[in-house]
Amino acid sequence: MSALSATSSPATALARPHRPAALSASSVLLRLAAPLAWRSRRRAAEKLQGFAATEAGSSLDMLKAAELSDEPRLRALFLRHAVDEARHARLFRDAARAIDPNARLAPSEYQKLHARRQDLLERHGLVRFVAFVYLAERRGELQFQVLRDYFAGHSALPALSPLFARIAREERFHVAYSRRLLDEWRQAGRGAEVRSALWRVRAARGWEAWRRIGRMAGDLVGRVLLSLVYLLCLLPFALLQRWKEPERSGWRYPALDEDRAPGAALARARRQG
Ligand SMILES: [Fe+2]
Ligand SMILES: [Fe+2]
Repeated sequence: MSALSATSSPATALARPHRPAALSASSVLLRLAAPLAWRSRRRAAEKLQGFAATEAGSSLDMLKAAELSDEPRLRALFLRHAVDEARHARLFRDAARAIDPNARLAPSEYQKLHARRQDLLERHGLVRFVAFVYLAERRGELQFQVLRDYFAGHSALPALSPLFARIAREERFHVAYSRRLLDEWRQAGRGAEVRSALWRVRAARGWEAWRRIGRMAGDLVGRVLLSLVYLLCLLPFALLQRWKEPERSGWRYPALDEDRAPGAALARARRQG
């Protein structure tokens, strides 16, 4: 039996009924955040563009992994995975355009970053790379299942439910083959290596999330503090200045620069005319 047929293929998965998203803390959080994250057609188009960028970046990494793999079985799996992710990127891009043709379709800097190749296999080695693929695909499958359920019967964007259902089914194949590879390595006596790889990927993800939350919190606190400084310090002094020296308050052009004031040239021309 080949490795591809040993895993659950998308064709097999297509025949299965929908499995509701597993009830976990992550799925509950995703479901709670969905109404805000997908609050308008424009926002939905931007989210889909973001997904397209991530899928495109993933496709490039899988292609590179296929190129670097000596083992034909791994090369075939990674290549098939790359083709799937490229298709997902196209599906998400098309859906974004269908939802909001006027949306800004140029990717943001954040999206460009995600659409780039990360060279994960070269940086981390095969076991950690597959551990990363397994955890990322599992997270992706759960996210798309939650969104499939959220958009089922959605009055404004009903077409998104079948789209997320299709992509979640295909992500299941990526989860299945990467889990199988990890299981094979465990059975071959490399359990400690697999455990360490999974732990390191989870730790890196946790650290990334912590930094992301820190950046967002820092941005928010900075805005609040600067607004307070403005209101508590600058505004009273400005009012005091206005009260004490009303003739010097407000914006004025210096007397010597009168000719350079806006409209001065027009006024001069009128006087001369
Ligand atoms: Fe995907
Ligand atoms: Fe995937």
